[in-house]
Amino acid sequence: MSQDVRAVVAKSKGAPVTIETVTIPDPGPGEVVVDIAACGVCHTDLHYREGGINDEFPFLLGHEAAGIVEQVGPDVDHVAVGDFVVLNWRAVCGSCRACKRGRPQYCFDTFNASQKMTLSDGTELTPALGIGAFAEKTLVHQGQCTKVSPDADPAVVGLLGCGVMAGLGAAMNTGNVGRGDSVAVIGCGGVGDAAVAGARLAGASTIIGIDMDPGKLEWAKDLGATHTIDATQSDVVEAVRELTGGFGADVVIDAVGRPETWKQAFYARDLAGTVVLVGVPTPDMTLEMPLIDFFSHGGSLKSSWYGDCLPERDFPMLVDLYQQGRLPLDKFVTERIGLDEVEAAFTTMSEGKVLRSVVVL
Ligand SMILES: NC(=O)c1ccc[n+]([C@@H]2O[C@H](COP(=O)([O-])OP(=O)(O)OC[C@H]3O[C@@H](n4cnc5c(N)ncnc54)[C@H](O)[C@@H]3O)[C@@H](O)[C@H]2O)c1
Ligand SMILES: [Zn+2]
Ligand SMILES: [Zn+2]
Repeated sequence: MSQDVRAVVAKSKGAPVTIETVTIPDPGPGEVVVDIAACGVCHTDLHYREGGINDEFPFLLGHEAAGIVEQVGPDVDHVAVGDFVVLNWRAVCGSCRACKRGRPQYCFDTFNASQKMTLSDGTELTPALGIGAFAEKTLVHQGQCTKVSPDADPAVVGLLGCGVMAGLGAAMNTGNVGRGDSVAVIGCGGVGDAAVAGARLAGASTIIGIDMDPGKLEWAKDLGATHTIDATQSDVVEAVRELTGGFGADVVIDAVGRPETWKQAFYARDLAGTVVLVGVPTPDMTLEMPLIDFFSHGGSLKSSWYGDCLPERDFPMLVDLYQQGRLPLDKFVTERIGLDEVEAAFTTMSEGKVLRSVVVL
């Protein structure tokens, strides 16, 4: 039997989100219903509401979540009722070209639930990133559920479902930060500070946090930055060079995603260093630079989608490290809010007052 739950819906472009009654069908083959315990508020939810992702309104928002599997459909063997899971938007297919070549992080046929959740008048909803977890319950594909240690705090570990994983992975997977490396992170919001934490976990010896907001620089220090640069007070490229013996950093992570920050990243790295772009530019942004500069600098230029993570490999490992006290994931939870406070959380986020607001159900 289908069931009705309360959920946060963005009905039209730019309009404030509202709480609606949403109908969840019984899980079909390969699908599961998850009872949501917590879901973080990510910039991408706001992008959806503003029509910046696509026009498939109404959206069921929320995608950084943890909860308990409540119901499973036919042919589900990956999880069972009662399992504590973190939801992911990279349920790899195993059979596309990328998967077959051993690069499943580039899978282009990831699984989502095939049935639709609807408003009470039958209107079909588009779940954000195929998840839709600002809701008492949601319907996902079994592969979108990654089982983790059941005694972890859902508000904390749910954040691995998107932004925090993107930042950690930008450093650990895409940037391949190693012991003794120097790392600079431009933009110390939730994603950038996770990159700082990832660089520390990977053994970087110099970690430089860069932001325009002094409060963010304090958070970056708390998460492992050995030095900070206020981008409103100093020339970022010069300041990174000074802190790295004149060479530039081995890995520079742009967690803002604007032409000017990417250029800073390019010039602030060591000649053979790596630039990682994890901040998401808008489609109208362009870059103009002397081609000779690309030629004369070696190293590599990368982008990082979801931190190049593989949820089944990375989530349980990171939860273990958190529980062992080696990764301060709990520091990313700035406030816990109710389902009806998501709209207010968008404002708080835009004002730079939080790393993450987390809806707790
Ligand atoms: N690649 C991925 O898979 C992925 C996943 C999630 C989020 N993201 C993206 O990562 C980016 C950061 O997300 P967030 O949640 O940390 O956002 P946020 O708003 O919390 O943080 C951005 C930070 O950048 C700082 N900043 C802005 N302009 C700056 C500049 N010119 N120089 C230095 N600092 C500057 C801001 O003060 C802020 O602290 C966003 O673009 C988001 O869409 C990417
Ligand atoms: Zn695939
Ligand atoms: Zn997100």
